[in-house]
Formats: sequence, structure tokens, C-alpha cells
Amino acid sequence: MRSLTRYIIKQHIVKYFESTVESNIQITDDIYVMTVLRHEAKASAGQFFMLKCWDKELTLMRPISVYQASEEHLLFMYRLVGEGTRKLAALKNGDSISLLGALGNGYPLDQIHGRIAVVGGGVGIPPLSLTTKMLQAQGETVDAYLGYRDEIFAVEAFEPYCRDIFISSEKGPEGYRGFITDLLKAEQYDAVLTCGPEVMMRKVAQICSEKNVTCWCSMEHRMACGIGACLGCSIPTTEGMRRVCKDGPVFLASHLFQK
Ligand SMILES: Cc1cc2nc3c(=O)[nH]c(=O)nc-3n(C[C@H](O)[C@H](O)[C@H](O)COP(=O)(O)OP(=O)(O)OC[C@H]3O[C@@H](n4cnc5c(N)ncnc54)[C@H](O)[C@@H]3O)c2cc1C
Ligand code: FES
Repeated sequence: MRSLTRYIIKQHIVKYFESTVESNIQITDDIYVMTVLRHEAKASAGQFFMLKCWDKELTLMRPISVYQASEEHLLFMYRLVGEGTRKLAALKNGDSISLLGALGNGYPLDQIHGRIAVVGGGVGIPPLSLTTKMLQAQGETVDAYLGYRDEIFAVEAFEPYCRDIFISSEKGPEGYRGFITDLLKAEQYDAVLTCGPEVMMRKVAQICSEKNVTCWCSMEHRMACGIGACLGCSIPTTEGMRRVCKDGPVFLASHLFQK
């Protein structure tokens, strides 16, 4: 019987649980998709889990966003960048993994209606997949703008839920050659949701600000606790210091980036 521990933090219930890897597939040179048993964990668009498959070698869990979710499974798409993601990439079917989550506020879907653009770059693309699916399910029209450095991935996860998909890559053979922000016509949308490198999100925020379009950004930061306790992921906003793990990762662009 697997243990399921519940931490009650303020009004929120955050689950720490042991799960099992169902598959862990390498899809490009350095990108992997891992499927784990869900154990009834809640997960919404733009939320993340802290993951760990080690005891003493590394102390901290690593934050990875929910890529897709079904009744039985959670899927995570991640890039191998260092020791933690190397250990995650080595996991095989049937191996154990510890999860804490779902964490973070996620995109406020009840405030996002109409014609929506999701703009993702690199491993900022995976969390926008579940987001797009949930927006389409609530009746919104979604266009996806997906920006890559070279190899293209995850496009098929958007296809069933989008009206149009725009692809760019800086070096690769497919799509527009250049930055995805070159293609964005913000004035065509009621809201823009973005996730990816900060330099890309700043540009998206600037384009939206010029056209008076609401823009939501999902921020990244090195994390320790992931639950709002250590303040290690605090960033300055127009509302004061805010914790990316607990108050975010999703923020209004107008609260993050000054004009
Ligand atoms: C809310 C949130 C959601 C995320 N979702 C995803 C996801 O869906 N897929 C994915 O591939 N990655 C995601 N990340 C980034 C991921 O957490 C890091 O790449 C991972 O923790 C690196 O661990 P590591 O031990 O392999 O690398 P480390 O050895 O810790 O670091 C290796 C390199 O990666 C950089 N790095 C580490 N963590 C981060 C970070 N948080 N932001 C930027 N650079 C970092 C380090 O500066 C270093 O250059 C997310 C991060 C956050 C905060
Ligand atoms: S990581 Fe500890 S408060 Fe965010």
C-alpha cells in the first residue's frame, strides 16, 4: 500500500505522494515525456509538481509543469539540463517517484474568455498544452504560437484543440525562421497567455501592452520548498514581492514588466 501524506498549508491541501512511472520516453536530443500514476492528485492549467526520485544525493525536489492529465495519469515533459533531470530521465517503467502537488495558482481560466493566443517557447510549451485543452473545453477559440530553438516537439498535443498553430524555429527546418514573437498579432485576441524564456515573455508583454490586450505570464525561478514557506523564489512585482511557487507562477504581465 503506497503512502499518501497530506500537508494542510493554510486553507490549501497539498499532497505529497509516492507514485509509479508508467513510461519515460526520450522524444528529442534532450526532451523527455514521463507518465506517472495520478493517484487522484488535482491538476489544473499552468500548475506544477515538485518531483524527486533520489534520497540523499540531491536535497531539493525539482519543479515540472503538468503537460497533460487524464483520469489515471499525469504527464510531464522536461528538458535534461542538470543532475536532477538526469536522474528523472534515467527512470524506467515501474520505478518509484515522489510528487508534491499540484502547486501554484495556474492560469485563471474563469477570467479568460473569447479569442485566446497561447505563446510558448522551449519547455514553456508543455504547460500550454493542458491549458489549451481546458480553454477549448470551456468554449474559447485558441491559437497556439510555438517557438523552438531547433527541434520541434509537442505540436500534436495542440492540434485537436486549436484553430491555428504557428511555428517558428531559430535553427530548425520547420516553420518561420526567427522568433515566435515576430508572428504574434496581439490585437486579434481577447487575452494572451505565455510561458517560456523571460526575454520572450517580456516581448509578448510589450506587444500586448501596445495593443491593450491582457497578458498572463508563467514565471520560472529556482525553487526550494515549492509551497511558499522559504521565500526563496520571491520576485518583485508592482504589488510588492511575490512568491513564484505560491502566488504564481502565473502573473498578469502588467504586474511584472513596466512599460
Ligand atoms: C514552476 C516551474 C515549472 C517548470 N516546468 C518545467 C517543465 O515543464 N519542463 C522543464 O523542462 N522544465 C521546467 N521547469 C524548469 C526545471 O524545474 C529545471 O530545469 C530543473 O529544476 C533543473 O533541475 P536539474 O537538477 O536538472 O538542473 P540543475 O543542475 O539544478 O541546473 C542546471 C541548469 O538549469 C538551470 N535551471 C535550473 N532550474 C531552473 C529554473 N527553475 N529556471 C531556469 N533555469 C533553471 C540552472 O541555472 C543551470 O544552468 C520549471 C520550473 C519552474 C519554476
Ligand atoms: S520555493 Fe520556497 S517559497 Fe517558493
